[in-house]
Amino acid sequence: MKHRVLIETELNGPTISRHIYGHFAEHLGRCIYDGLWVGEDSPIPNVRGWRSDLVEALKRLRIPNLRWPGGCFADTYHWRDGIGPKSERPGIVNVYWGGTVENNHVGTHEFLDLCEQIGAEPYIAGNVGSGTVREMAEWLEYLTMPGDSPMARLRRQNGREEPWNIRLWGIGNENWGCGGSMRPQYYADLYRQFQTYCRNFTPGKSLYKVACGLTDEWNDILMREAHRFMDGLSIHYYTVPGAWAAKGSATQFEVPDWQLTLQKGANIEQFIIRTDHIMNRYDPQKRIGIVMDEWGTWFDVEPGTNPGFLYQQNTIRDALVAGLTLNILNNHSDRVQVANIAQTVNVLQAVALTEGSRMLRTPTYHVFEMYQVHQDAKLLPTHVLSETYVPERDMQGTSGANGSVNRLWQIKQISVSASLDSCGNTHLTLCNLHHDQPAEVSIEVRGQTVSRGKGRILTAPAMNSMNTFDNPDTVVPQDFEVSGRDNAIVAELPARSVAVLRLS
Ligand code: AHR
Repeated sequence: MKHRVLIETELNGPTISRHIYGHFAEHLGRCIYDGLWVGEDSPIPNVRGWRSDLVEALKRLRIPNLRWPGGCFADTYHWRDGIGPKSERPGIVNVYWGGTVENNHVGTHEFLDLCEQIGAEPYIAGNVGSGTVREMAEWLEYLTMPGDSPMARLRRQNGREEPWNIRLWGIGNENWGCGGSMRPQYYADLYRQFQTYCRNFTPGKSLYKVACGLTDEWNDILMREAHRFMDGLSIHYYTVPGAWAAKGSATQFEVPDWQLTLQKGANIEQFIIRTDHIMNRYDPQKRIGIVMDEWGTWFDVEPGTNPGFLYQQNTIRDALVAGLTLNILNNHSDRVQVANIAQTVNVLQAVALTEGSRMLRTPTYHVFEMYQVHQDAKLLPTHVLSETYVPERDMQGTSGANGSVNRLWQIKQISVSASLDSCGNTHLTLCNLHHDQPAEVSIEVRGQTVSRGKGRILTAPAMNSMNTFDNPDTVVPQDFEVSGRDNAIVAELPARSVAVLRLS
């Protein structure tokens, strides 16, 4: 079948917030320590402890925001233990992730230095589960107070004169589970209390306060009780092909696993739509954003690695999940304001992996690099006429914190999103989800005359092709050009491919 994509340029779409392209770096496994952070004395080139090859790679992604310090770790973290001379900082037991004892050498100043090095806005998750209102309020005073105050003085003693620019602020993380095992009514009250004392002390600046959501019932109660005090509602969606006990291998899989993974990945859309319906009851103007601040694939750890470190390889299948998810997030940017893939380095669906002094960019990295054209561009609505690739079916296994989805929606072979940037360029991103069939896609643009498309395409010889430390460039994008006549361009997409095109 010939697939058809119609792009509407005359309908008014929302802006795709660049913050949909956010990342997440938790104190988990080798994401921070022995990943991004090697320490000032490491033989691996670094700037003030942060690994230079990774900083360079991340800068190229134009990461809009970086979420830290967790995750589950956030509700165990006490910020005062991570400031001052490193030799005097107490350690912390990372109870959720392998029980390792960390030395707290990466704290507030170090994390914010990383954000400055890569050009990302910080997105900090404060501790509600085991912290106090005072502790969170003082952290904000420490971070944002320009004048004289006890916390501003302490910050200056520790070497930072000016306050930092802090806007994105999470009030807890998964407080229904690792963040305190709370009930929704209780968390809603705590959220109201904590947020009352969360201030940005820099004149003219305010906080974007994020409350922790879960599934329909929780979200309904939280919105009812606290929507007036919220800017964002955090929800998480992980793509787990199997069950929690046996999630499936990241690299050894067959066609049914490929299809199930993509179908579960696509179901993030069902979760967004359901959450949006609930939010519409209290916020029909869509002032409050969905903050999908954890998403991505979650497979069994690589054999021989610490099960608590969540280290997994990354194949072209992950690239397809990334391309598909980002298309869905773009297409729902009327409600989705922030999103963060989990996690940046060496954990879950990472964009980079490290081994000693070696570093590789994963297929997922290349998708983020290609899709950055959509950041802050205007969404152009699209219609897709495409064959069903996998039919609707009952859910098998579970998919983590995913909105209690019971039924998997059918997925089409082609997924797209399109946008118009501030220079007047129209960009289209396309995925051919099929494991072995190419797709001929006819692209029509209503309201614009176009005859060609220029961009790049990411594909790979096998379903499980990946980049390794010995062969880091097996899966890398190639130039891609397409043309046509009479305002219909034809793109020949190879099986299992992700493409970006600028149309003209
Ligand atoms: O990303 C790994 C973990 O998944 C996070 O710490 C937690 O928030 C979620 O359950």
